[in-house]
Amino acid sequence: MELQGKRIAVTGAFGALGAAMVQTATAAGARVAAIDRAAVPNGFVAATAIGNVDLADANAARTAIDAAAKALGGLDGLVNIAGTFRWETLADGSVDTWDLLYRVNLRTAVTASKAAIPHLVASGAGRIVNISAAGSIKAAAGMGAYAASKSGVARLTEALAEELKDRGVTVNAILPSTIDTAANRADMPKADFSRWVTPAQLSNVIVFLLSDRASAVTGALVPVMGRV
Ligand SMILES: NC(=O)c1ccc[n+]([C@@H]2O[C@H](COP(=O)([O-])OP(=O)(O)OC[C@H]3O[C@@H](n4cnc5c(N)ncnc54)[C@H](OP(=O)(O)O)[C@@H]3O)[C@@H](O)[C@H]2O)c1
Repeated sequence: MELQGKRIAVTGAFGALGAAMVQTATAAGARVAAIDRAAVPNGFVAATAIGNVDLADANAARTAIDAAAKALGGLDGLVNIAGTFRWETLADGSVDTWDLLYRVNLRTAVTASKAAIPHLVASGAGRIVNISAAGSIKAAAGMGAYAASKSGVARLTEALAEELKDRGVTVNAILPSTIDTAANRADMPKADFSRWVTPAQLSNVIVFLLSDRASAVTGALVPVMGRV
């Protein structure tokens, strides 16, 4: 049990990757606080579940992370999964999309991480894992706002890893390609789904980064692309 006894908060926990992460971390022995903007789904299984939280709101994020730490008796890890996607060219799209993706993809990771830092430092072996994206390395047409926000997540990861290096907290990010989710299958029905990376495969890499075995890894941006 790689995460036996670990106390882990997961944001975006009711989405496709988030729900898989909660399940995989729980199976690895962690107690998980699941946090999301959506309402808690019926029958959702986690040590504690906190719904209806907009993590772009710094006060709401602090309240939720403090509640998670209280419910679990502290925090050893934070997985920042809350996020979203838009494809839009600059010529035909809205400037507001850039603000939206900044808020949902980057600001949520900033607020949750800031709120979690005291708890993770108190743990003595704290972990933050962020979700950037393959598009943060090279953006395609229509991916500007998304890639910029996910590049922001990558830079946050590097800066925070340096900031927390001597305080016992590692900070890493994974860079998924297309994830095999129901939403992506519906959007791209003709794609070869077998080439995509699954939520379970991503969750396994995140479990490793949360575990004691990854104590020497910090500031890493880890591509997890399947066969894309
Ligand atoms: N799907 C892909 O192919 C892909 C590829 C690369 C990276 N990623 C990244 O991987 C992560 C998970 O993707 P996914 O496909 O699992 O997404 P998803 O199913 O849409 O789940 C995302 C969850 O985050 C929540 N959320 C959004 N904004 C929030 C906020 N302000 N505060 C709190 N929670 C918020 C959403 O709630 P609502 O339903 O209320 O919005 C949703 O439950 C995201 O960061 C995404 O950008 C995805």
